[in-house]
Amino acid sequence: MGNDWWRTAAIYQIYVRSFADSDGDGVGDLGGVRNRLDHLAGLGVDALWLTPFYASPMADGGYDVADYRAVDPLFGDLSDAEALIAEAHARGLRVLVDVVPNHTSSRHPWFVEALDSEPGSAARQRYVFRDGRDGDPPNDWESMFGGPAWTRVPDGQWYLHLFDPAQPDLNWQHPDVHAEFEDILRFWLDRGVDGFRIDVAHGLVKADGLPDVGRTDQAGLLTTRELPFFDQDGVHEIYREWRKILDSYPGERIAVAEAWVPSPDRLARYLRADELHQAFNFHYVETDWSAAGFREVVDASLAAVADVDAPTTWVLSNHDVRRHVTRYGGGERGLARARAAALLTFALPGSVYVYQGEELGLPEVTDLPDEVLTDPVWERSGHTDRGRDGCRVPLPWSGTAPPFGFGGPTWLPQPADWSAHTVEAQEGDPHSTLTLYRRALALRRELPETGLRWFDPAARDATGCDARADVLAFARGDGFVCTVNFGDVPVTLPRPGRPLLASHPGVAGDGGDPDPAGRENGDGVVTLPPNSAVWWSGDTHG
Ligand code: GLC
Repeated sequence: MGNDWWRTAAIYQIYVRSFADSDGDGVGDLGGVRNRLDHLAGLGVDALWLTPFYASPMADGGYDVADYRAVDPLFGDLSDAEALIAEAHARGLRVLVDVVPNHTSSRHPWFVEALDSEPGSAARQRYVFRDGRDGDPPNDWESMFGGPAWTRVPDGQWYLHLFDPAQPDLNWQHPDVHAEFEDILRFWLDRGVDGFRIDVAHGLVKADGLPDVGRTDQAGLLTTRELPFFDQDGVHEIYREWRKILDSYPGERIAVAEAWVPSPDRLARYLRADELHQAFNFHYVETDWSAAGFREVVDASLAAVADVDAPTTWVLSNHDVRRHVTRYGGGERGLARARAAALLTFALPGSVYVYQGEELGLPEVTDLPDEVLTDPVWERSGHTDRGRDGCRVPLPWSGTAPPFGFGGPTWLPQPADWSAHTVEAQEGDPHSTLTLYRRALALRRELPETGLRWFDPAARDATGCDARADVLAFARGDGFVCTVNFGDVPVTLPRPGRPLLASHPGVAGDGGDPDPAGRENGDGVVTLPPNSAVWWSGDTHG
């Protein structure tokens, strides 16, 4: 396996409980992942990231870990994890696992001990216990899931939980916490994992004195301003320790930060040479569908990592955000935009993340009945925010009705009309989103390892008016061009080369069209349909 594999890797995110079910209980499991490794290898990704499968009361889908070295029986056992790692490696797929260091489960033996111990005791010092202020919480911090970030225990003290009360925050000033997590990293590295996704990597260290924020709606400020509980300078010392551990193992083991920080520059700090390898690019996730917005976020993302010699990551969806088909407007138009966004994203220099189901064009499920919702956000928000279950609905594999080959009934109900979204239905269909992803991921491997050069094609709409504001075009090296029409009307532009692949049926490279360049208007001018992207080889308008 080659050098610096992670710099250009396509990494597929598996939300284990919704990926594939091997025992028919309607909940995905490690056996399900093992059974579907050929699908993943065939898709053309380089690595898998598995969300937490550890022993957990599942107050937050497993991000509340009670035993970091055990597999929850819902998902299998340790031998399944070991077999999965070996079988993935046999197919050339690397495996990243999640590590959740900001908080444990409230059922973790440390927290149980802390609750049984006196205020001020050693056991309490592993967490963040404080006295209140005249019967109120120690400060004004809010949980990211809604409500106060503090819960009172029977003896009157309060403990901090930036997420659910079932997820008490650890105290990273305590040496036991450092030692324990170093040991957990080694436990999984010894089992062959290729690295870690670090949950809430920005949260471990809190500002001295735990000062008030001074305003409400703190979750909404995540990527816009400094907060006393996130992105404190002290977190970087932890990652320097962790990097030494990763580097002490053979074969380039990596870590990727989930860090919600105010700017691409702050994100780059996690990527300094002696810290982490990658960080998720949430500014990209948050970008609305517009040429100007995407150009700006691409430039800012590339500029931010230039000084630290780390690759950018490009992320369209994950298990915490609305699926991008829906974010971009839903329906046929949302799907067209999502397909175009995939080609745009896969053409950018750096590493890409694919969230399970985006290769099937899955939309967010927005009409889950109240009684099936499991995300703690739903309760904590007082039923005002429906939470993240809508992007976590089990994948449709085959057949024409739920559970679509998943096994079930599934833990969240699948929409009855998902039959066109199954892997089976899309397999072999030249126009399917699955085929588009396979082709794009295969071609992406051949892209030159160079930066990106924007150019300005003379794009026009049907009335001949300047349409450049809706079009992005860039070259990589001398032989590759990507063009994207963000607008809702077709545009024409000078043919940038030979079409390789298009996001839109009937356009370049789409499933063996005899003249895949769409409507060739003569004079070397081509038409790009609304909300579409095309990859070209040849001239680059350098
Ligand atoms: C991260 C996870 C999210 C989880 C939270 C608390 O943001 O991605 O799913 O709820 O951390 O662990």
